[in-house]
Amino acid sequence: MTTPLLTILEFPDVRLRTKAATIQTVTRDIAALADQMLATMYHAPGIGLAATQVNVHQRLIVCDVSEDHQSPLIFINPRLIEGVGSIETQEGCLSVPGFYESVFRHEKILVEALDRDGEVFQLEADGLLAICIQHEMDHLDGKLFVDYLSPAKRQLLRKKLLKQQKLQRQ
Ligand code: NI
Repeated sequence: MTTPLLTILEFPDVRLRTKAATIQTVTRDIAALADQMLATMYHAPGIGLAATQVNVHQRLIVCDVSEDHQSPLIFINPRLIEGVGSIETQEGCLSVPGFYESVFRHEKILVEALDRDGEVFQLEADGLLAICIQHEMDHLDGKLFVDYLSPAKRQLLRKKLLKQQKLQRQ
């Protein structure tokens, strides 16, 4: 059985600005949504996806930075416990297709979340995974990587994306 793919919202869609709600109970539906999000992310292809991006405003993110797509990670109600260092990398986003810009993030993080069984876990991450988790967590607060850019750059990007979206609709 193939998992149905979800539609990814694209900047500047205002729904991407929604602050996601805490998940009270990790139900089967939440686990199923996580699986659909992973399938959608792999298909895109991308390395991370937040529920906000598929228009579900609950605190759930998925990541897989491995090359063989064999290391899926699910974070429910993720919380940053600690962030150290600073690293600048080129980031992209499935909601801002085709654009890559430099963003500063913590180099190493300690994150706490619930897994798909509702169990609490902590994870220490660095490198690409740390960047991915921070980027996806931002989505849950209605924040996009373009918010770290200058207003002029963001405006330019907005124009280009609106033009792209208009062409796609034709
Ligand atoms: Ni993103």
